Amino acid sequence: MYELYREVLAKVPPMGECAKSGKVVAVRIDVNSPLDDGQRILDDYRIQAHAATLRALSDVGAKVVVLAHQGRPGGDDFTSLEQHAGLAEKYVGKPVRFIDDNQGPAAREAIKGLGPGEILFLENVRFLADEVIEKVPEEQVNAVIVRKLAPLLDYYVFDGFAVSHRSQPSVVGFPLVVPSCMGEVFEKELRALVKVQEARGEGVVLVAGGAKVPDTVRAVGHLLKDGLVETVATGGLVGFVFAVAKNGFTTPHVRRFVEKSGLATAITRARELVDKYPARISVPTDFAVEVNGSRMDIDVFSLSSDPLDIGKATLGTYMDMVRGARTVIFSGPLGVIEDEKFAVGTIELMKASMGRYVIIGGGHTILAARKAGIIDRVSHVSTGGRAFIQSVGGEEMPVLHALLKSYEKFWEAAGR
Ligand code: 3PG
Repeated sequence: MYELYREVLAKVPPMGECAKSGKVVAVRIDVNSPLDDGQRILDDYRIQAHAATLRALSDVGAKVVVLAHQGRPGGDDFTSLEQHAGLAEKYVGKPVRFIDDNQGPAAREAIKGLGPGEILFLENVRFLADEVIEKVPEEQVNAVIVRKLAPLLDYYVFDGFAVSHRSQPSVVGFPLVVPSCMGEVFEKELRALVKVQEARGEGVVLVAGGAKVPDTVRAVGHLLKDGLVETVATGGLVGFVFAVAKNGFTTPHVRRFVEKSGLATAITRARELVDKYPARISVPTDFAVEVNGSRMDIDVFSLSSDPLDIGKATLGTYMDMVRGARTVIFSGPLGVIEDEKFAVGTIELMKASMGRYVIIGGGHTILAARKAGIIDRVSHVSTGGRAFIQSVGGEEMPVLHALLKSYEKFWEAAGR
């Protein structure tokens, strides 16, 4: 997998090769954002990150067409991209026109009417039913958005690292029919991942938290097997799963919690890992719970309510781990960071890791780094959530193959 990253970095042209004055350049970004109950964007980190890409394309005079999504069909956060476009305009510092169409006549006319340097933000690509159907790139060239837009495009830039785990039309369909480049955000993400691999596991600590349990357990397995991390410190729901895998149902509450949250399969897989790597996986020995509105730290063998953070004893152990590390990867928070009382474990561990090469990924992890006041001191802030943990774990991202196919078809053939 990491060989694939290197191959993409070596072959697929950087964005500059697709950023040509007067040319129509579609750029797939990922600005999928957490929304509040009123559907207002809560964190615009991804929009800020991609704004630099849009500005760079516009500055050279490209006619920029922005492709993106928000939410999934049926979800509460499945909304229009109008406010995303507004925020993009703020961060790009140039007009960004939004159109409530993504491939219909209105969108196509607007693309044809673009002038050099102008930016057109299309409506949520997932408003198209076939966008959420995953197929191989060769089949996605027949998806409606690719059929309708590709004839109008000179280049396609893939910048949406956070959606790189999806084999969806707007991600993998265009590269096969339009000459494609890596966007700046995407390229930076690949370089950071290669750096993790170059560390060869020595002194690399993975702090694996959050609630994406099956993905994270799988990634832990890959990283330990391939020797890409030396040790893993677990927290959050992931830590709870590993703690149960190691200690069994320590209390009746633990059993009830597992039953209600459907974690049994993940626990079985986690148990295989703690049995195989007993010295390399650390699990929480105590958790913080809420008692009468206050935080109380409690031993794993006395857990009688839901765990909301790692306990102080666990935090001490994990601090020693990160202080002795050269590289620390944070994927997912160790507790409920929205509540100050239960953000302590994540925040203190992040502070303790400063001075090392630190990579963080995932919306909540980024939020925690902001709360900890260390976001500007982190070596690499990934825009990816699920894509981050999957790619750190060495899984193959479909877009990498699509971009290489684009290289072979358009760039290699032209003697690049
Ligand atoms: C994300 O937020 O992880 C990406 O935007 C991908 O979203 P998805 O998991 O709905 O495809």
